Amino acid sequence: MSRSFRLPGVLLLAVVAASVSAAVRTTAQQPLPQGHAVRHGADTIPIYSDSQATAGQAVWTKTCSECHESKDVTGGDFRTKWAGQPVFTLFEQIRTTMPDGNPGSLPKEDYAAALAYILKLNGLTPGAAPFVADSAALAGVKLILPPAPSGY
Ligand code: HEC
Repeated sequence: MSRSFRLPGVLLLAVVAASVSAAVRTTAQQPLPQGHAVRHGADTIPIYSDSQATAGQAVWTKTCSECHESKDVTGGDFRTKWAGQPVFTLFEQIRTTMPDGNPGSLPKEDYAAALAYILKLNGLTPGAAPFVADSAALAGVKLILPPAPSGY
């Protein structure tokens, strides 16, 4: 049950300019500081706040956990699918497809909070500012996920 909380905290976000994506991909395979976002393979930025993730945990418990276990958003299938993908794409997928059967029914803030919680479950370190679903600001911000944990 608490297994996902013990996973190595190696989810990272990379801010990848399209022009340097190849270089960043190479860098991203090196060990990076835990739980930071990476800009051009060097600078790191946080992408959500801890209080937002706490709010997201409440959203998760109330709404998402009806159908999901946390390993659905930390396990091998999830990481294989989302590694290297834009974080905004993940946000939009959740917002436009979840809850299954009633997509888009939550306030946008709740989707952002749920995403923050998912990022925290994957070990990303919070910062001062909350995740804001701004496609322009998030352009090029990509998920760098750890290898699939064994047993998932
Ligand atoms: C009524 C059941 C149900 C609820 C409630 C629900 N989900 Fe889902 N969720 C699903 C199903 C079923 C899938 C698989 C859909 C598919 O693969 O097409 C899924 C898929 C997902 C995925 C994609 C996983 C992947 O590997 O890409 C994410 C992320 C997700 N849900 C997040 C959430 C969040 C966050 C909430 C709460 C806001 C939520 N879900 C609520 C049923 C639900």
